[in-house]
Amino acid sequence: MEVGRVFIAWSIAFLLLSVSGEEMTGLSHCDIPAIYNFGDSNSDTGGISAAFYPAGQPSGETFFHEPAGRGSDGRLIIDFIAKRLRLPYLSAYLDSIGASFRHGANFATGGSTIRQLNESFFLTGASPFSLDIQIVQFDQFKTHTGKLYNKAKKNSHRRNLPRPQDFSDALYTFDIGQNDIAAGIRKSSSENFRAVLPDIIDQLASAVKHLHEQGARNFWIHNTGPIGCLPVTQRNYHHPMPGILDEHGCLIAQNDMAIEFNRQLKRRVTKLRTQLPGAALTYVDIFAAKYKLISNPKEQGFVDARSICCGYHEDSNHVWCGHRDKINGTEIYAGSCEDPSKYISWDGVHYTEAANHWIANHILNGSFTDPPVPITHACLS
Ligand SMILES: *[C@@H]1O[C@H](CO)[C@@H](O)[C@H](O)[C@H]1NC(C)=O
Ligand SMILES: *[C@@H]1O[C@H](CO)[C@@H](O)[C@H](O)[C@H]1NC(C)=O
Ligand SMILES: *[C@@H]1O[C@H](CO)[C@@H](O)[C@H](O)[C@H]1NC(C)=O
Repeated sequence: MEVGRVFIAWSIAFLLLSVSGEEMTGLSHCDIPAIYNFGDSNSDTGGISAAFYPAGQPSGETFFHEPAGRGSDGRLIIDFIAKRLRLPYLSAYLDSIGASFRHGANFATGGSTIRQLNESFFLTGASPFSLDIQIVQFDQFKTHTGKLYNKAKKNSHRRNLPRPQDFSDALYTFDIGQNDIAAGIRKSSSENFRAVLPDIIDQLASAVKHLHEQGARNFWIHNTGPIGCLPVTQRNYHHPMPGILDEHGCLIAQNDMAIEFNRQLKRRVTKLRTQLPGAALTYVDIFAAKYKLISNPKEQGFVDARSICCGYHEDSNHVWCGHRDKINGTEIYAGSCEDPSKYISWDGVHYTEAANHWIANHILNGSFTDPPVPITHACLS
């Protein structure tokens, strides 16, 4: 498998923050009954696994004790979001077996992009479920579940369906864009990427506007993380020229693409606030949170941020997490490390449960969001 494929891969203080947050923003504590999530592998809780090949061992080993359709040893940030809102972990829309959609659905799939890439999943790992398709799926989901709910004669037939009135109070979360940048890196120069970036941001904004037309009001929008700090990218630079890497070993040019994406996204979210009356839009600086962790791993109880827990990546040989391959005639099984809780990177591209937990703890209380309110207040009352 090539790199591109995987890319495509509380207390008094809390009360004080809540009060100041409300005064500043007009937002107040809200009961969020459901989450609808759109994204890529950073928040896929089983979508691409249900659609194509199931995630294999050792993914899921830390928390679920079996593969759980997630690119991690355990939970993702979206799982910690659900937990903080006292909601169950989200079922993937594409998973037809045993799923409950009472409290929302997850449309994210590993490899998803904002723009349609027109590539084959089987060749590059690009997900056919780009953001526009995820939005089409949401529309079908809303219409179809609404009909079933109204037709149901017994409450037990409604148990796994969302309550139609919950769509307007739900939180609509986004974590997508990393694979658009990865595709830009694979296919073209950074100049070409900059030329298509406004279109990418437009398409994300269109998705938000469309959901707003469908009655969505509360939006929680992650920006994109420091793609240049993914260990698997760093491994390809053995003797980098001066000025290629920053002080933490991250590729400056790739991070600059993410920073530019985030600059334009933030500006667009600000504009959307004026265009979408009655909407609460929270912009979440995932880049800053992840970069903070990557710049101080030891202080936060982790080993070097470049270490990969699961997989074999030496010289230019890559055997991806859970896979087997022959290297110099010897078969290698790329298993996981002894203590994943000490690692930031699970498989070179995705984060461990421990890192996701750290990041979630830092974003959910509002310290990396605009406006600076905790997720429990990211709504209009
Ligand atoms: C993919 O195809 C669609 C429809 O033809 C087109 O609008 C879009 O620009 C294409 N995407 C890329 C990245 O070329
Ligand atoms: C494979 O062979 C190369 C060249 O002889 C060597 O540098 C490398 O360490 C070997 N790798 C393994 C896993 O044995
Ligand atoms: C948010 O939580 C993090 C992690 O516990 C903590 O370091 C930070 O100070 C908190 N920020 C606020 C504004 O409460």
